[in-house]
Amino acid sequence: MGTTRLSKLLNLDDFQRAAKRHLPRPIYEYIAGAVEDNRSLLANTQSFQRYAFVPRVLRNVSGRSGARSLFGHSYAWPFGFAPMGISALSAYRGDIVLAQAAGQMNLPMIMSGSSLIRLEEVVKANPNAWFQAYLPGDEANIRGLIARVVASGFQTLVITVDTPVAANRENNVRAGFSTPLRPSLRLAWDGITHPRWLLWTFLRTLYKHGIPHFENNYAHRGAPIISPSVERDFSDRGHLDWSHLSLIRALWPGTLVVKGILHPDDARRAVEAGANGLIVSNHGGRQLDGSVAPLRVLPAIIAACPDVPVMLDGGIRRGSDVVKALALGAAFVFIGRPFNFAAAVGGEEGVLHAARLLAQEVSRNMGMLGICSLDELDRSVLMGVDEAFS
Ligand code: GLV
Repeated sequence: MGTTRLSKLLNLDDFQRAAKRHLPRPIYEYIAGAVEDNRSLLANTQSFQRYAFVPRVLRNVSGRSGARSLFGHSYAWPFGFAPMGISALSAYRGDIVLAQAAGQMNLPMIMSGSSLIRLEEVVKANPNAWFQAYLPGDEANIRGLIARVVASGFQTLVITVDTPVAANRENNVRAGFSTPLRPSLRLAWDGITHPRWLLWTFLRTLYKHGIPHFENNYAHRGAPIISPSVERDFSDRGHLDWSHLSLIRALWPGTLVVKGILHPDDARRAVEAGANGLIVSNHGGRQLDGSVAPLRVLPAIIAACPDVPVMLDGGIRRGSDVVKALALGAAFVFIGRPFNFAAAVGGEEGVLHAARLLAQEVSRNMGMLGICSLDELDRSVLMGVDEAFS
């Protein structure tokens, strides 16, 4: 996509509309959709509308900075890219595109373990990227995977804990998306009717890199994405418990983040087990439909764990959402789908454009709130919407 067309995309939601036209329906739906009745997906975005701003004026905001430190690194902005599975299917070399754009903008990027490019290649593209693991179900494979991530040079490991069983992704069934991908006339038609994706993402990937495989679930390569054995990579996590987190803490020398926490007691327990940070998340509404919006439980989790950075993902689409989460105490926020769509429609330039739009929104909002530093944000810039708009 040339600069002219990118310049027509004015906010994060515009990337979703563009990606809907660009991607075959099953792939678009895999990213955009959630589970069952999408209650948590909707609740995540709506949770931000419960707050209004109370701006302050005449405060000389000409020297604003959106920088924020996290685990000893000063990032340019308080947001990063959440982990997103199989992003090399929606965007050519998707994980690398996201890693490079994050490096260029000095933002954190979390690489998903459910990915089709070897983690060693991604950390080479951005040595500051983080790696997110879905744990294999047995100890030998956990040890093997962690040893591989240690050897690769990643410094920060994110363990996702909200996927003990497979989610009910009805929308994937309706849209014809499955893993393994089952070749069918319908899938072929979806490809043919999206020729730019077919040629520049799919066929280019096949030609240059062969059939995509799940590369990072284990120490060794996993199944190809069009293999019946692919299901194996996602099964067998139901018996994982807190002892597995302690095992990982013992094996992992770097920064450890636990993602998918929604209850203060679990947050406390994760920190007791040695987590250096938490991501409050309902997996973008993609796991338990009806699970609470992360923003609603954020303050209680911060109160339970005042000594570690508490981050959040889920529903952030505007700079104002970023600012609200920070005002409620989030150390940092992560955003998923919009950057996946940006990588699909515009490659690295697309991701940079999306990140710059969000950064401008954060900076503009800081100006209008009357603050120069994110550290000035607290609950006093917010008012409950019932009180504010009644
Ligand atoms: C992977 O984490 C997904 O939510 O599809």
